[in-house]
Amino acid sequence: MNEHNIVTADATAEKIEAIKQETGKMSVLIMIDHSDYQYANEHDVKGIAKVAHQYDIPFLYNGAYTVGVMPVDGKEISADFVVGSGHKSMASPAPSGVLATTDEWAPKIFRTTQMVGDVTKRKFGIKEVEMLGCTLMGSTLIGMMASFPTVKNRVHNWEEEVKKSNYLIDGLLAIEGGKILSEYPRKHTLSKVDTSRNFDIIAQGHKRKGFFLSDELSSKGIVGEFAGATRVWKLNTYGLSWEKVRYVVDTFQGIAEKYKLQVNRENDSNGSK
Ligand SMILES: Cc1ncc(COP(=O)(O)O)c(C=O)c1O
Repeated sequence: MNEHNIVTADATAEKIEAIKQETGKMSVLIMIDHSDYQYANEHDVKGIAKVAHQYDIPFLYNGAYTVGVMPVDGKEISADFVVGSGHKSMASPAPSGVLATTDEWAPKIFRTTQMVGDVTKRKFGIKEVEMLGCTLMGSTLIGMMASFPTVKNRVHNWEEEVKKSNYLIDGLLAIEGGKILSEYPRKHTLSKVDTSRNFDIIAQGHKRKGFFLSDELSSKGIVGEFAGATRVWKLNTYGLSWEKVRYVVDTFQGIAEKYKLQVNRENDSNGSK
């Protein structure tokens, strides 16, 4: 990652060379998260795929935080593999996921067992041997299928979802001492924020310590954060209506004002007030 916590194509080339130097071997696979789980920063997957192919290394696009929430075109990225997480971004029960690949790789990845029982002559031709253990079955699979039409549609709302994300972050940055650790403006709905220069200072002098912020939020009907672990934490606006996102921002700013933190309401974006 560079100083902005972004993985670039150049850095990938350097890493390939370093591994070659150190081990004498060429990497067998390059796998990069389009958006990572820490900052949900966007990494240069297209550039990285290009570098991978220049070295003749296959490229796996990890869409754990993208497939199912935004449009993903594996061909356009020129990925050899695309993986998505059902329970992370596809509104599906756990554990589930998807794997896509090219015509070139499909016969290898999805090959079925060639084994024939020596006595019975029985064939087991439907078992995909590279899928370890059992593959998706029963209610998990049905749950994923039930979600799929909605998921397929909702990816088209991504830009609007990202606008809401930026609205929340702008609202938090308008609070004195507010800090965002993810890249900004946001390109994803998940963001990592740092409240050590505002809410956490209040927490230190509060009888409920780090729990005060969760107490305040839950008294306004906002739940879901790890209570007491809100110094550096992640929030996701995905799927919230505009009304709810505004409510969240108003609530945070209201709590800030209650504890005498300055709120620069002029910085509000989207002219929503
Ligand atoms: C970036 C990233 N990729 C993949 C995974 C694994 O996803 P799954 O739970 O679908 O195996 C995680 C899990 O936390 C993750 O953060």
